[in-house]
Amino acid sequence: MTLQPQPLYFGPLRLESRYLLSPLAGYTNWPFRRAVRDLGGLGLATTDLVNARALVNRSPKTLELIDTCPDDRPLAVQIFGSVPEEMRDAAQWLEGYGIQAIDINMGCPVHKVTKSGGGSAMMCSPSATIDLVRQVVDAVTIPVTVKMRLGWDDADLSAPNFARAFEQVGVAAVMIHGRTRAQGFSGQVNHAGIRAVVDAVERIPIIGNGDIRTPADAERMFEETGCAGISIGRGALLNPWIFAQLVKGELGTDRASPMTCPGYEDRLDFMARHFDLLLKQRGERHACLTFRKMAAWYTRDLKPGREVHCQLVMLERAQEFEDIVARLRDLGPPVSWQRDVLPEIAVPKGPISHW
Ligand SMILES: Cc1cc2nc3c(=O)[nH]c(=O)nc-3n(C[C@H](O)[C@H](O)[C@H](O)COP(=O)(O)O)c2cc1C
Repeated sequence: MTLQPQPLYFGPLRLESRYLLSPLAGYTNWPFRRAVRDLGGLGLATTDLVNARALVNRSPKTLELIDTCPDDRPLAVQIFGSVPEEMRDAAQWLEGYGIQAIDINMGCPVHKVTKSGGGSAMMCSPSATIDLVRQVVDAVTIPVTVKMRLGWDDADLSAPNFARAFEQVGVAAVMIHGRTRAQGFSGQVNHAGIRAVVDAVERIPIIGNGDIRTPADAERMFEETGCAGISIGRGALLNPWIFAQLVKGELGTDRASPMTCPGYEDRLDFMARHFDLLLKQRGERHACLTFRKMAAWYTRDLKPGREVHCQLVMLERAQEFEDIVARLRDLGPPVSWQRDVLPEIAVPKGPISHW
């Protein structure tokens, strides 16, 4: 009998592992999700957050955000908004489109999202928010989840109350980033705060999120919070093998197998595969522009030197990318590169860095 990782259930939806990829706007598009899925261990991926109204209006830019492919399953689409009818219609349309779960964004602090009452602003009007969530749950048969922070600030840790109310209206799981909205990305993830959310609900899974980069970080999250699953964002940009590593650890099988203990060549292969999928998604210009943002995460790890870093963040042509990869393969790892040492997690610079 082959050993299987412990599954996780969002209502009737069975996830093959307890390890989820967090939405990272601008990064977790289908080429990245697909490349990560190929490495194994991923239970569920979620799209970038999408504006429910724009989805209802079939805005071409918004439809691009939910771009997927047949192997990109199971997939949740994350929606935001504050108008119940729009959120409901968006969810219904997504169900018809073949998506496996709807995630409601209640954590985004970015002005573009909060100015109309969506994202973290939803924490400020509890009864309207609970009613909105109930309407979305009632409108679809697929699971609806909510992703939120611990609260607005330390004086208002409202996540436990929200989670309990969400469970009562039929939400299938709640993802908690263990920081407050006021905290941004500063300070430590509050495991006791996540534990309070776990204790507040009766049976739905609570998914712990924040700063997980290694299997040891994941272990601490499980132990200190009692969460049912974990979700990993920036750690997966640095180490897309983390999901496979967690499954291997869980099964007690060889942690150091080549599949889960990647070398320099494996990392170059992953980067090349990711770029190739971006090319397939929408051609050369799109691939180069999208890759530019991701480049800094790869160079943090591969340490190819300033010149290559600059070339990658200004990438213009697929050929240029291929030449760089070929050159890095020939050169092999720089002396400072260490197989088992991951760089620290960073918050990417730019307008979306205020998450
Ligand atoms: C660049 C960036 C984009 C993000 N985009 C989203 C998003 O679209 N939806 C969302 O719910 N959270 C978003 N987040 C928050 C992450 O999903 C996650 O909760 C947070 O980064 C903490 O987890 P981590 O330490 O594993 O990255 C984003 C974070 C960053 C840094």
